[in-house]
Amino acid sequence: MDMRPIGVFDSGLGGLTAVRSLRQILPEENLIYFGDTARVPYGGRSKETLLKYARQDVRFLRSFDLKAILIACGTVSTTSLDTLRAENDLPIVGVVEPTCRRALLVTKTKKVGIIATLASIRSGAYEATLRRLDPDVEVIGKPCPLFVPLVENGRIHRGDVVIETVAREYLEPLKATGIDTLILGCTHYPLLTDIIADIMGPEVTLVSAGEESAFELKRMLKAEGLRADESRQGEPEFYVSDRPEDFERIASVFLRENMRHTARRIDIDQY
Ligand code: DGL
Repeated sequence: MDMRPIGVFDSGLGGLTAVRSLRQILPEENLIYFGDTARVPYGGRSKETLLKYARQDVRFLRSFDLKAILIACGTVSTTSLDTLRAENDLPIVGVVEPTCRRALLVTKTKKVGIIATLASIRSGAYEATLRRLDPDVEVIGKPCPLFVPLVENGRIHRGDVVIETVAREYLEPLKATGIDTLILGCTHYPLLTDIIADIMGPEVTLVSAGEESAFELKRMLKAEGLRADESRQGEPEFYVSDRPEDFERIASVFLRENMRHTARRIDIDQY
């Protein structure tokens, strides 16, 4: 049994899709969440800048005595996972491999779409992982750079003409390719599930990077004997690098739980 917390990070709200799953499947675990809201979005940045940000995010999280880290960010997972693993002596789980495994389990036609940030699509990591796991898979990738800023601004609801217009522009050509599975390869995108599902239709199965990585983390904790005492109730703590108010408002709606611990602001430049 290991009562130390798990560190989870993302550029902003996106990693909450993993937190929501973690709260359901590992309710006994304490979580320390960091959202780098001062520097969001990460998705258009260079590999070098992303690695610098990711190192700072990990250094902040490691100011707590953690047992594991979940990189609840597609962009950091696709560009910096190997380096972060090599530099840190604790288990680190990313989103790419678990998400690809799930997509290959659900696809029947082996025609898989992937939407993610520019940096993630540019890295080719999802595509390479899918092909390594199944050389016969056909992969169609598409960056959706406007999704993250819209999500961070709370434009996540059906009937919002801005997000619906942007989503149609990105997704209708993808739907026309005849994919039967769509990977939401950026952890912000599951906040848009309703809108994406409306456009893609019932014949396309959506696979969420945030959710799959939470399941992977659970498997890893079990395998390594790192689970907390299952009879207790764990608590999440939230930290951000800019105004906590907006984060708390959207986070409470999304997590469907009162954020008893309000988000606290930290200076990420100190790390
Ligand atoms: N949610 C992150 C991802 O999964 C980062 C998105 C961004 O900041 O652009 O890629």
